Amino acid sequence: MDSLKRAAAESACSLVKDGYVLGLGTGSTVYFLIDELARRIKEEGLDVVCVPTSRGTAITAREKGITIASLEEYDALDLAIDGADQVSDKLDLIKGGGAAHTREKIVASLSKRFVVIVDEGKLSEKLSLPVPVEVLPFSWKVVARKLEDMDATTVVRQGSGKSGPVITDNGNYVLDADFGIIEDPESLEAEINLIKGVVENGIFPGMAHEVRVGTDNGVKILRKPG
Ligand code: A5P
Repeated sequence: MDSLKRAAAESACSLVKDGYVLGLGTGSTVYFLIDELARRIKEEGLDVVCVPTSRGTAITAREKGITIASLEEYDALDLAIDGADQVSDKLDLIKGGGAAHTREKIVASLSKRFVVIVDEGKLSEKLSLPVPVEVLPFSWKVVARKLEDMDATTVVRQGSGKSGPVITDNGNYVLDADFGIIEDPESLEAEINLIKGVVENGIFPGMAHEVRVGTDNGVKILRKPG
């Protein structure tokens, strides 16, 4: 899988041009992107500023010599590149396996182009993974009940060992809400976000302009219809 992730990441990295403000996603696929970006900066003198979507990405990128900036400095980005947990035939996404989906969605929404990098195991006709829902710790229980009223089963995401609930970079919990097969991602995304106490959920409907998929036969490019 790593070679497929790397191939997708390197292919997307070729889209980055001199002078770009680039949104940098989070996750294991993005690590390969950071590697390739660092190589291009060093070997080709590529001039790029990156807005990271998580502390983890910021730390790794900085360690590799990539210039990091925040949304206080840049509120419009040329391109954002990020991984995903699941990609449907219509290029809707589920993200948030790394609990970073709130910042990822903000950064993607501010970018002229949003390109997703995955291995082929992430493709599915319809979205069906549990939806990560970032919630204020204060209200997690009532939000869980509301999600259950919407026919989801929910769990509070736990850290490793006995470390307790995962805490996001924003200081919140994540509920993983299993709705089974999601027939209408756009409506579900909106409905979840209407619950008071929800910060953001991991459905990204119609946001990806392009998905670069690492397959055994090379990188396949899927583009949003229309
Ligand atoms: C982070 O919260 C996620 O949205 C990641 O982008 C997603 O989980 C993909 O991660 P991997 O590249 O590690 O599979």
